[in-house]
Amino acid sequence: MDLSGQYRWRGGFCMEVSPIPDTVVIFGALGDLANRKLIPSLFSLHRRGLFHDKSAIVACGRAPMTHGDYRETVRKLLAEKNPPDRLAQIDSFLNKLFYHAGDYDAADTYVRLDSALRKIEHSLFNDNACRIYYLSTAPTVYMTVVEHLCAAGLLAEDPVSNMPWRHVVIEKPFGRDLESAKELDRALRNCLSERQIYRIDHYLGKETVQNILMFRFANLIFEPVWNRDYIDSVQITVAETVGVEHRAKYFENAGLLRDMFQNHMFEMLSLVAMEMPASFEAGSVRDEKAKLLRSIRPFDSRNPAGQIVRAQYAAGNGMNAYRAEPGVDPESQTETYVAAKLLIDNWRWEGVPFYLRSGKRLGAKRSEIVITFKHIPHSIFQPVHAGDLAQNRLTLTVQPQEGLSLGILAKKPGPKLCMGDLTMDFKYASILEPGESMPEAYERLLLDCMLGDQTLFIRSDTVELAWGLLTPVLDLWRERPGTCPLAFYPAGSSGPKEADRLIQRDDRFWTEFA
Ligand code: BG6
Repeated sequence: MDLSGQYRWRGGFCMEVSPIPDTVVIFGALGDLANRKLIPSLFSLHRRGLFHDKSAIVACGRAPMTHGDYRETVRKLLAEKNPPDRLAQIDSFLNKLFYHAGDYDAADTYVRLDSALRKIEHSLFNDNACRIYYLSTAPTVYMTVVEHLCAAGLLAEDPVSNMPWRHVVIEKPFGRDLESAKELDRALRNCLSERQIYRIDHYLGKETVQNILMFRFANLIFEPVWNRDYIDSVQITVAETVGVEHRAKYFENAGLLRDMFQNHMFEMLSLVAMEMPASFEAGSVRDEKAKLLRSIRPFDSRNPAGQIVRAQYAAGNGMNAYRAEPGVDPESQTETYVAAKLLIDNWRWEGVPFYLRSGKRLGAKRSEIVITFKHIPHSIFQPVHAGDLAQNRLTLTVQPQEGLSLGILAKKPGPKLCMGDLTMDFKYASILEPGESMPEAYERLLLDCMLGDQTLFIRSDTVELAWGLLTPVLDLWRERPGTCPLAFYPAGSSGPKEADRLIQRDDRFWTEFA
């Protein structure tokens, strides 16, 4: 049943503050992330009036290029992605763009950057602008850039007011295990304080993921049943149809556990399962997430296969096997799929299994969180027993078609007493203004950076807690691979049989997504 037409905003509260004038400096500005996500998102903020008039974007890259050349590149990029009636907005956005060329490992690049930034900010009547340095480069370059920025005095803030701020945004991977994550953190902390580091996880910018907190803590009806007394199990799925694409070099070294679990999957799990924070403020929210991660029961190294399945896609449905993809070792042991069962040792969740799965080259693209409630304790609708009645199920769809749905039982219309499953289905698309689309996750995150709000960014302790849970598994896979052998699944399928067995052992089933 589609009720979307009946959902309307009745009033509302906006907690957003006005934009402030910052300078956004993007390293790696000619790369894929900048072109596909960052620049389009910054344009979108500009279009929505959320990019301050005095703000500027300084794109840094190795290739020599004039401001004019760079603006022309961006004009083409945005013109392709936007309807023709936005051309004037594109033009006004281009005026905010500047280009700075230089090698990342040359001190001179940063000395010149310093004077270029002062000049640009002065021309915009924005001397003393706050600055964001976005590292959209390969992770191997992070420390080179940060150390040079530091040496050139570009990260210095007023020690008392911390203004104008100098924030640095970094993308995952934050290390590749616990030790390397700590090492990266130590190196960053030589130049920056935690307050200045914005570790981005783009899943936290997705509408449905942000909405988990509103949903849980702005409504009365969910929190009382959000616990072991009412919830049977939780499933979190991130299924992708894409394979390794052009990222074999990265993926062969990473694998799915590092690529998706350490960050996106654990972030969603934390939001679903954490306790209510004292306030919607970075410190409080991040404290609760850390507390939750600390409560996750470590994987049992004596029986890892009972708790976690790793698999790789084989050929199927006309698609190549992972091992036949360009750049992949023909005998690769890298996992492209992981399913895991996690338990949380606290009063709220004792005994409630959380099943997480994510994989590439599956039959459909779908990210969702499914909360299955327990059976009712007793059925008055004899001869139907309580255990025969479908359990209520709440689905938070992260993508595609962001929304939420609730499966309930209801009487089927008609003279006979028949009961059936009914799905109340809400799609965000139904409440968007005509012509608008869902905002890109990076819009929200970039806006938060510009406002100096770290709530949706990852703190170093949660990075380490996540690695602390996963590093023993990675070690085990490497050192004793036979204890958790690599399984295979056909490309385009719903995953390996071993993952089905993992959940079926508990008399439960994965939700269907294909
Ligand atoms: C990235 C991973 O962080 O997230 C990719 O590195 C993955 O491997 C991507 O494809 C998924 O993001 P989304 O937004 O498409 O679900």
